[in-house]
Amino acid sequence: MFYETAKNDHGLPHNPFKALIAPRPIGWITTMSARGEVNLSPYSFFNAVSDRPDIVAFSSDGYKDAVTFAEETREFVCNLATYELKEAMNATSAPLPRGESELDFAGLTPAPSRLVKPPRVAESPVALECKWLKTIALEPLQGPARYHLVLGEVVGVHIDDRFIVDGYVDTAAMRPIARAGYRDYFVATPETRFSMTRPAGG
Ligand SMILES: Cc1cc2nc3c(=O)[nH]c(=O)nc-3n(C[C@H](O)[C@H](O)[C@H](O)COP(=O)(O)O)c2cc1C
Repeated sequence: MFYETAKNDHGLPHNPFKALIAPRPIGWITTMSARGEVNLSPYSFFNAVSDRPDIVAFSSDGYKDAVTFAEETREFVCNLATYELKEAMNATSAPLPRGESELDFAGLTPAPSRLVKPPRVAESPVALECKWLKTIALEPLQGPARYHLVLGEVVGVHIDDRFIVDGYVDTAAMRPIARAGYRDYFVATPETRFSMTRPAGG
């Protein structure tokens, strides 16, 4: 099949876009407002976009609290959502009133970060402490921007030592979850891992 996005003429019950760019990693973002309110919410328009230095990005449909807070205090934390934490991760996407902590709501424990003020999720095996770099309004071909892309540089990294084996991070053992389309998710496991060596010069 072929469809034109401007015409939305796919004829399917739902727009398939998010089922095609999948699975997407989930940035489980902690932020803090200037007044000290803590926010935690998942973003699957999320990825690493540079590694020298380490830079991550997440994109918000409108100016959600995570964007507002990240801009206010110029800091955020990306926690890793795992299979074990999937229900808690989902719970933190609930639209709570501003100032009500999603960590409490989801039964999660805040742990202090080292270099930034927003706490990390103690139950999560990985947390990236980030300094906000910029927010980019994603202006489409037609009309005003709806999504806003937040870029942050990673300044500190927490890794649960249980997942460091012989000097390597055992990603699959952490069972990270990733978002697909509709209500679907995927989980990375040791059985689905494979390795390849790049061609010379590649
Ligand atoms: C797995 C998952 C991924 C999500 N990804 C995004 C996303 O990429 N962008 C977005 O705007 N909302 C996304 N959402 C919805 C937000 O998490 C939700 O709107 C949340 O309430 C935003 O909270 P905030 O306004 O406190 O930042 C996602 C929800 C779930 C469960």
